[in-house]
Amino acid sequence: MSRRDTITASSLPPAATASFPPGASAAVPAAPATADTARRSAEIEAELRRAPQSFRILTGDRPTGPLHLGHYFGTLQNRVRFQQLGADVLVLVADYQVITDRDAGPGLAADVLGLVADNLAAGLDPGRATVFAHSQVSALNQLMLPFLSLLSVAEVGRNPTVREEFSASAGGAMSALLFTYPVHQAADILACRANLVPVGKDQLPHVELTRAIARRFNQRYSPQREFFQLPDPLLGAVPLLLGLDGQKMSKSRGNTIPLAATEDATARLIKSAKTDLRRHISYEPASRPEVANLVLLAAMCQGRPPAAVAAEIGGGGAARLKAVVTEAVNEHLRPIRTRRRELAADRPYLQAVLRRGNERAAALAGDTLNSVRELMRMTY
Ligand code: TRP
Repeated sequence: MSRRDTITASSLPPAATASFPPGASAAVPAAPATADTARRSAEIEAELRRAPQSFRILTGDRPTGPLHLGHYFGTLQNRVRFQQLGADVLVLVADYQVITDRDAGPGLAADVLGLVADNLAAGLDPGRATVFAHSQVSALNQLMLPFLSLLSVAEVGRNPTVREEFSASAGGAMSALLFTYPVHQAADILACRANLVPVGKDQLPHVELTRAIARRFNQRYSPQREFFQLPDPLLGAVPLLLGLDGQKMSKSRGNTIPLAATEDATARLIKSAKTDLRRHISYEPASRPEVANLVLLAAMCQGRPPAAVAAEIGGGGAARLKAVVTEAVNEHLRPIRTRRRELAADRPYLQAVLRRGNERAAALAGDTLNSVRELMRMTY
């Protein structure tokens, strides 16, 4: 699917010609260098182990339905790891982001609480971590106004994710909220004064924009003392899992394994996975992506190197491989699924966890907004 192609020259604002706001030092780089970010991420990982208390980490998801294995291995497990290390972990349920590209349907509340349940089932401890929904944190949302004033329309329009989402809307009208959602995401991050944002590559431009906003706010309103710390992105060190068809894993492609799937449904899904014609199983991601992906999935569930998993299956072929993967996934997820079912049956508990998280986020964001108003001389 080539989404980029549908952008027309007239559909987006022209590139910036002058610095904005006047006097701003640097434009927002459209695509931060990933190699540098990867190197920096490795340094941060070391720092996280050395001084976890110096990190406040914000991650989040849109509540658009049940999470799948890609989310679990890509982000959920990492959140729990940061929590175990002793960092201050905040997990955002980005409910306002759902209305950027679709209407929030009648199932939104269930999706929001479902996301809370997914996080807790994966091991997030509500006694230590904070789970909140940004629609419930007024001060956070108000920060969007001064932040918007620090960016030009052209800069926001250059954000690659916004451009892609726009093309995905198939030429339909783009809402102004979709256009500005990276700015709202910056408000999420800066309201909480998070200094670390674990993201996938597609979200790097948003963190870059957040840093630009922080830098400009500091320059304009707090030149003597850095008010907003510039948050760092953290690129995941986890290998990327593909979908069961060997393509990018995504719910809309129907190639995922939902976390909450039954063991039988999991077996059926894995049975349908694409493999290749060579009987001998090996771990060669470049030349055998589908087989390698299944091997990797079993390896991640078992906490073993993929090559060892492949060697053990050897001449057993695709049928044996799929049996091993099914067993590994179901075994790894069994306690998580049990806990997920228990949590889903206790809606008042999930609501209480979210309410407590909302309160803490509101306290953080309220402090930030108060200071921002003072720095902007908006105290009367
Ligand atoms: N845009 C993110 C996603 O679609 C969700 C998100 C919203 C987020 N606000 C955030 C992630 C702040 C990290 C920090 O997955």
